[in-house]
Amino acid sequence: MKVWSVANQKGGVGKTTTVVTLAGLLAGAGHRVLVVDLDPHGSLTSYFRYDPDELEHSVFELFSEEVPDRNRLKSLLLSTSHERISLLPASTALATLERRAVGKEGMGLRVARALRRLDGEFDQVLIDSPPVLGVLMVNALAACERLLVPVQTEYLALKGLERMVRSIAMINRARKRRLEYSLVPTFYDRRTQASVNCLRELHRQYPEQMADVVVPVDTKFRNASVQGVVPSALDPSSRGVAAYAKLLRTLMAQQGRSEA
Ligand SMILES: Nc1ncnc2c1ncn2[C@@H]1O[C@H](COP(=O)(O)OP(=O)(O)OP(=O)(O)O)[C@@H](O)[C@H]1O
Ligand SMILES: [Mg+2]
Repeated sequence: MKVWSVANQKGGVGKTTTVVTLAGLLAGAGHRVLVVDLDPHGSLTSYFRYDPDELEHSVFELFSEEVPDRNRLKSLLLSTSHERISLLPASTALATLERRAVGKEGMGLRVARALRRLDGEFDQVLIDSPPVLGVLMVNALAACERLLVPVQTEYLALKGLERMVRSIAMINRARKRRLEYSLVPTFYDRRTQASVNCLRELHRQYPEQMADVVVPVDTKFRNASVQGVVPSALDPSSRGVAAYAKLLRTLMAQQGRSEA
């Protein structure tokens, strides 16, 4: 079971879209996929037509006194519009977690421990995280083998990214293993100077971390979310889906190399 997290401290950069699109492509290729919603706003949960305000059971249970056992964890999973994608949903109770977690031991590893208990159930796990550095994002970063950081190709993106890169460095100091990350440029519009300049600057500042793909602005993403289906099910040949398919090929090749 492989775990990838998608995070950026900046909001609205395409995190949830990245999770949903990659999940759809992986599931389409026959993988059993789990998507985990660690955002108290529950966008990923809402995407698949569940209401985070109404859900009684959610990923919040991972942060109770004891990490739930395998059967309990399995009972928290919800089905989605795609038969091979399961959802560990968020509920709005998650919003209280930052306050509750203060000073409690081991809260940063709850998701990692829970996923280990689900070993064998899934081939690939994708974790969506909130745009805030707190206990939830720390869990997302601690649970994954690789981190994807979507970066909106616009004027203010680089400042936000610096903050995220500093957070990754801080977390790496606390981990035994270095967390590798890939920057995924999103909302790219080659007709605008801001997009072109931002992409050039990203390549200059982060040559090692840049994914060899650019996700274009594509209205199909919003259309898919309106219908609650993964973008590849709505239009597998759209430009946006094609970009994520290319990203996935690169990630799978890297995964293969790290296993070899
Ligand atoms: N490449 C794209 N082209 C056009 N629209 C996009 C693209 N990526 C995402 N969107 C749309 O932009 C909006 C924000 O995207 P998304 O929810 O994925 O961002 P996010 O980083 O998860 O936001 P938040 O920080 O609020 O969780 C959504 O309506 C989504 O459909
Ligand atoms: Mg989101």
